[in-house]
Amino acid sequence: MQISPEKSLLGLRSFNRDRLDFILSHARSLKQLYADNTHARSLQGKTVLNLFFEPSTRTRVSFETAIKRLGGSSVAISMETSSLKKGETLFDTVKNLDAMGFDAIVVRHRNAGVPHFIDHILDVPVINAGDGFNEHPSQGLLDIFTMQEQRGSVENRNVLILGDILHSRVARSNIWALLQLGAKVFVAGPPTLIPANIADMGVTVVHSIDDVISQMDFINVLRIQYERQDLGYFPTIREYRDQFGLTQERLKDAKPELCILHPGPINRGIEIDSAVADGPNNVILNQVTNGVIVRMAILDLLLAPK
Ligand code: NCD
Repeated sequence: MQISPEKSLLGLRSFNRDRLDFILSHARSLKQLYADNTHARSLQGKTVLNLFFEPSTRTRVSFETAIKRLGGSSVAISMETSSLKKGETLFDTVKNLDAMGFDAIVVRHRNAGVPHFIDHILDVPVINAGDGFNEHPSQGLLDIFTMQEQRGSVENRNVLILGDILHSRVARSNIWALLQLGAKVFVAGPPTLIPANIADMGVTVVHSIDDVISQMDFINVLRIQYERQDLGYFPTIREYRDQFGLTQERLKDAKPELCILHPGPINRGIEIDSAVADGPNNVILNQVTNGVIVRMAILDLLLAPK
């Protein structure tokens, strides 16, 4: 079974529960293999192109690590020094890179739909590593993998996605997949950072996090995406923190087993305080560790010889 009837991983929106379960359970078995020091080598002889048109630390390095752990090799191109800077179109850049014979392309771009465009023009698998505000499927999967690892299942669990929902591809991938897996999803943030029709996705919009925090099993805290905002979505950083920042004080009524996630990078002291980010309920570095495993699962399912 392939993870998708298509050749690529572009988003989780079209994924049903079976497909999500299939990838997540494949990731669990790879994690076990890795813990037992048994290395799958399914990417031996394959080369993956990492095309990051936007900054990245965790996603880029974890894709590279996943490729190497599976025995493959990777090539990364720096956009700053590529011929896109000389005015070459994305179409020509991608076609020329493809002519060098890569087996798959991992792509991040500030515009929604770029991975879909590349998928359309090339025959090789394309993995979306974040497109604009749209989706970040490997992040959604690793977030849920981490939640399941902590609590067994996300079914009927309450998950609050907190912060800059409007600009967050992480939020969208989480929401699509969590709902399929039977979680109850809440979103909270300044009204200007909550998309007007978000309730249509099946989530509950919360205006005061203090009213719901005691019911939550998971809180996925999002970064304020300064680079995607013209100033003016909220009055001041201090007011944002007062209303929506995850502070130690806010957690006083939380369940003891509450898990706090953040995809990184963290703005400490703004959307989350250091005492919380480094505190006993956080699973932020577990997410990073699991990011490699989940990306191994994705690559293995898309690229391993059938
Ligand atoms: C996220 C992204 O780039 O969408 N980061 C990540 O991949 N871990 C979230 C963010 O930038 O805030």
